[in-house]
Amino acid sequence: MATQSPDTGARSTKTLDQALRPAHWEHYIGQPVIKENLRILLSAARGREQQPEHVLLYGPPGLGKTTLAHLISKEMSASLRSTSGPAIERVGDLASILTNLSPGDVLFIDEVHRLNRAIEEVLYPAMEAGVLDIVIGKGPSARTVQLELPPFTLIAATTRISLLSAPLRSRFSGGVFRLSYYSEPEIEEILRRSAGILGIEVDGESIAEIARRSRATPRTANYLLKRCRDFSEVNGEALDIKTVRKALSLLEIDEMGLNQIDRDIISVLIEKYGGGPAGLKTISAALSEEEATIEEVHEPYLMQLGFLERTPRGRVVTEKGHVHLGFAAPKKQSLGL
Ligand code: ADE
Repeated sequence: MATQSPDTGARSTKTLDQALRPAHWEHYIGQPVIKENLRILLSAARGREQQPEHVLLYGPPGLGKTTLAHLISKEMSASLRSTSGPAIERVGDLASILTNLSPGDVLFIDEVHRLNRAIEEVLYPAMEAGVLDIVIGKGPSARTVQLELPPFTLIAATTRISLLSAPLRSRFSGGVFRLSYYSEPEIEEILRRSAGILGIEVDGESIAEIARRSRATPRTANYLLKRCRDFSEVNGEALDIKTVRKALSLLEIDEMGLNQIDRDIISVLIEKYGGGPAGLKTISAALSEEEATIEEVHEPYLMQLGFLERTPRGRVVTEKGHVHLGFAAPKKQSLGL
C-alpha cells in the first residue's frame, strides 16, 4: 500500500496537529517576507483603529496558510470563523455566515477557488463595501435589499490561484501572498520544536534525515516525525537514524521525499510517453489519480525539485527526473522543453 498524504482525519491526530500548530508569531518559522508584510498591515490597521483589509494566501498544501490565519486573528484579538469553498454550496450559506459575524471577526475561507460564481458575486460587495445584496422574490417583482454587515477581515486560502477570477483576486486589498517551500534548516527547526512538544527524544542526524524527506513542507515533516515515533515505539527501538530510515522506507518515501505516486507520475511519463510531453488528463487516466491531486499536491514538489516541467505541450520529465528514478538521461533534443 502506497502512503500518500498526511493523515488529517482521525480525531486524536487532529488534536496532535493542533498541539503542533504555532500559537505565537515567534514560533512560526520561515516565510519571513510574508510575516513582515502581515506585521505591517496589522499594526498599521491597529494604529488607525481600522479593520485590516482582506488577505489572500496561496501555495501548495501544508505550508501553513491556516496557521497564518489563526495567528492573524490572534494578533487582532478577534474570533476566527472558519469555513471552506466546498462547504458554501448556496448563496444563502454565505449570507448566513456573513450576517452572523460579530464586528471585528476574521472570516477564513479555505479552498476559496471552489466557490461558485454566484457566491463570488455576493462576496464582492461584502468585501468592498461591507454590504450584502439580497434579492427578494423572482421575476419582474424581484427587488434587492441591501444589508449592512459588521466590519470583518476575510482571509482566503487556495492551492490554485489560477482558478480564481480576476475580480475576486483584485478585492484582496490587504495583499496576495504566496507561501513558498521551506529550507531544510527551517524544517529542522520546526521538527525540533515539534519533537519538544510531543516529548520525543531524537538526535540531530535523524531530524536532518526527516527534514530532507519532508517535501520542504511542515505538515509532511510533522507527519513523518509522528510516524517515525510510532515505528520506534511499536518495534521497541530508539528513535535514531537507523529507525528513521526503516520507518521512512516502510512508508515508501525515498531519499528526496518522493512517495509512490510522485514516482509513478515520473515513470509513467518516461515508460509510456518517452518522458513527455503528455497532458494532465493522460497522466491522470494512466494512474487512476485525480487530476486536481496530481496538479496541486504532486507536481508542485516535482517541479520544485526540477524533476518535471509544465510546458505548453504538456508535462515533461527533466534529465534530473530521469536520473533520480534510474532511467538513462534522455538526449537533449528529445526532452521537448
Ligand atoms: N507548522 C506549520 N507551519 C509552521 C511554521 N511555519 N512554523 C512552525 N510550525 C509550523
